[in-house]
Amino acid sequence: MELERYGHGGDLLTATEAFGRPEEDWLDYSSNMNPFGPPEVVGELMRERWRDIARYPDPAARGLRNKLSQAYGIPPESILVGNGAAELIDLVVRELRPAETILARPSFTEYEDAVRKAGGRTIPEPLLRECAFELSNAPDAGERTVFLGHPNNPTGRIVPARVLDALRLSGTRMMLDEAFLDFLPDEEGISYIRHAAESPRIQVIRSMTKFYAIPGIRLGFLVAHPDIVRRLKGAQTHWSVNFLAQLIGEAVLDERAYAERTRAWLQEERPWLMGELSRLGLTVFPSDTNFLLVSLPGETGMDARRLQRAMARHGILIRDASLFDGLDASCFRLAIRLRRDNERLIRALKEALS
Ligand SMILES: Cc1ncc(COP(=O)(O)O)c(C=O)c1O
Repeated sequence: MELERYGHGGDLLTATEAFGRPEEDWLDYSSNMNPFGPPEVVGELMRERWRDIARYPDPAARGLRNKLSQAYGIPPESILVGNGAAELIDLVVRELRPAETILARPSFTEYEDAVRKAGGRTIPEPLLRECAFELSNAPDAGERTVFLGHPNNPTGRIVPARVLDALRLSGTRMMLDEAFLDFLPDEEGISYIRHAAESPRIQVIRSMTKFYAIPGIRLGFLVAHPDIVRRLKGAQTHWSVNFLAQLIGEAVLDERAYAERTRAWLQEERPWLMGELSRLGLTVFPSDTNFLLVSLPGETGMDARRLQRAMARHGILIRDASLFDGLDASCFRLAIRLRRDNERLIRALKEALS
């Protein structure tokens, strides 16, 4: 059974059906969450405020938008909150309906799904293995829209500033998915949200589920020119962001120590894990964020699918990245977790490859 049956990593239920190991026994390297888990304040709010779900949430999410506005230095009118970045990817494409959209290949499959559902056409922009999957040059987009992951999933690379600036200065319509950008220490300088707040030609989508490890609560936001925000709001389902999600979103933005600890952990752990994986003879591509794209060299005689099954026997779930259009059978993706788990991962990989 294909573990990515529903198109994503982190599907422990399908893994459990396939391997008969209880859900709580898996060490999940297939979805890229902050390994510290949700900040404590999330639990406190859920315990203290659960009775308030007897009321409807604020349909305009004013508290959360004001908080985001302060945190990112952008006006609240340029912010739309959504039921995870996933809702906003779908909404922005469905409503702005680009006829032709350039997508990096490989990239997150939801972009292509959204374009297809909106009746548009996708044009692939191949990311080359020889360039370590970096988008080195701005595609010549003309009237087309460009939809890019910044950083891109599954490659983990940000789009270089010179490429984004070239696209912006040429007036290209851009949609950027910054779902994993908060993991970068210099996030503020790299994010395109300030441009998005001012230009009707740029929209930026952010997720709050990866960095704060709250994918089950569903929370993301979009930054765009206020006219675009109004238009998207008009097309969005009412109350799509529930009361607890709004409250949790406001609270986690104050978790400065959690944010600092997360970024410090990643700065230390990523080079360590990359070094250990390379020592096993694996090809590890450079990453700007909290996951790694890895390739199995031919001499191992193994492909990602077989490795996924071998690792599952150790209770470790990895992402078979060969399912991404543009990657071959040798590619898999790993989240970066805490040291003790990463040591277990390395031991299991060593056995699986021997
Ligand atoms: C690149 C990328 N963007 C967006 C999402 C969706 O995030 P959310 O949980 O906020 O809907 C994901 C989830 O895997 C992702 O990998």
